[in-house]
Formats: sequence, structure tokens, C-alpha cells
Amino acid sequence: MDPTLPLNPRRQFLAVATSAMASLGLVAVAIPFVKSMTPSERARAAGGPVDVDLASVAPGTLTTVEWRGRPVWVLHRTPQMLATLANHDAELADPASNEDQQPFYAHNPTRSVRPEFLVATAVCTHLGCIPTFRPELAPPDLGPNWPGGFFCPCHGSRFDLAGRVFRNVPAPRNLEVPPYSFAGNRLIIGEAPNVANT
Ligand code: FES
Repeated sequence: MDPTLPLNPRRQFLAVATSAMASLGLVAVAIPFVKSMTPSERARAAGGPVDVDLASVAPGTLTTVEWRGRPVWVLHRTPQMLATLANHDAELADPASNEDQQPFYAHNPTRSVRPEFLVATAVCTHLGCIPTFRPELAPPDLGPNWPGGFFCPCHGSRFDLAGRVFRNVPAPRNLEVPPYSFAGNRLIIGEAPNVANT
């Protein structure tokens, strides 16, 4: 049979009925799966806050967690990494993070609550690719002025180690900072801080 021809009504009915049965089967499988989740897994699936043990993020390293279906970076910046942030304000589109896509506690040069930890959504503000972590200074492919940061391979947008976008790239804004707070040595993504623990 020519696959481009429309199905006759009986075949259409059978196709719809088969598809409906398959969907019911999936629901039947999914319900026990959801019931088997732990409370924190259910919260995660529902978009609730996500906990990160900061002891597992060594200085100089970056870890990625998922919150509300999007990747979020947690970067533990070293003093050397933090020092790079002071040297290129004139090359940035929004060095003081004045645009309102980040919470008030990210309106500072490190864009963070604790200077050593950057928490940012790992989604390029141009068309949504995931930038790559490029912490090294002046690698050959990024040029002698590269201070370390994030490079988007899709169309070449560049962000520094605070997620601030450089001028003259396609991305219009800094990387978004999600709501987050700290509880001791735990980071809670998805929960804004009380003023007291900023
Ligand atoms: S999606 Fe990142 S530069 Fe286009």
C-alpha cells in the first residue's frame, strides 16, 4: 500500500484505538513509578527546590543540576577566578547586572550571594544552546583577552565567570540567575533567600 495515501475510516479508527490503548498502558506504568518516588524526587519532578551538597563541588570545578527541566550550573570560583571579574567591565553589555532577569541578590559584580559560588542557568540567552565551560586564560581558540568563562558553540556568544555577556555577540543578556539560597553547606536551588541569610 502507498504510505502517502490517507487511511480508510476503519483503519483510521483502528489506528486511533491502538494509540489510545498504548497511552493507557503508559499511564498504567507511570502511576506506580510516580508512587515509588521519594518525596525529594517527587518535589524535583514537580519543579520543587533542589538541594546541592556544596562539599561535593571542589574549588575551580563546576557541577550541573537539573531544576524545572533546565540545567543549572554551580561553579565554585577560586580567588584567582574571582580576580578575573574586575578586569573587563568595559567589554561587557551589562556589567552591573541591571537587567531584571536575575534576582536582586545577583545585582553585584559577582552576581551571587556568596562570592565563591556562581549559580546560573546553563542556557544561552540567544537561542537556548548550552554554553561550554572554558575557565582557562587565553586559550588559542578564544584569543589572548579571554579571561575564562563560558563560550556558546552555536553562534559564538561569550560570558565571563559571572555569566555576564560580552558586547558584540548574539546573546542579548547575561545568563539568568535562578532563585536560590543557602542552608549551611547546602545550596537550595528554587528557594529565594531571606534577607537574613544573604
Ligand atoms: S544560542 Fe548561544 S550564541 Fe546563539
